[in-house]
Amino acid sequence: MRTTLVLLSLSVLALTSCGSATPATRAQTIAALTGVAATGQTLYMQQCVSCHGPAGDATTASTDNKSMVAYVKANNAETVIGILVDGVPSTSMVSFAALSNQNLADLYAYVKNTLAK
Ligand code: HEC
Repeated sequence: MRTTLVLLSLSVLALTSCGSATPATRAQTIAALTGVAATGQTLYMQQCVSCHGPAGDATTASTDNKSMVAYVKANNAETVIGILVDGVPSTSMVSFAALSNQNLADLYAYVKNTLAK
């Protein structure tokens, strides 16, 4: 019984920590984390500001006239984080899947709680 439990926990761990998790599942995992907005701000200034602007409201050609902040206000955490993980195909919005889950949570915390406040 004990062995079964241990094996069960191990397989759950393996399932959640290996790269085979679908993007939607990863977005859910990230949405459940507590992001650190200060770290997110540093990342935003390095990786996002050139296209989305310091306030996240750039509607230049580089963002197809869409304001990132408006999108963040209108959509839930999972949806927005899903965009960060997957990118938007055929646009200059690339995938940021290479960032750690914690860093993606940090980015979301900054965008949601500071820019889209
Ligand atoms: C090279 C330019 C570029 C960079 C860098 C970039 N984005 Fe984007 N992003 C875009 C474009 C273009 C779109 C719009 C795609 C579309 O047409 O739907 C977009 C869309 C988005 C959206 C969905 C809302 C919308 O406007 O459609 C979010 C959220 C977003 N970006 C967040 C980020 C974050 C956070 C970063 C940094 C980690 C980032 N982006 C970096 C170009 C960029």
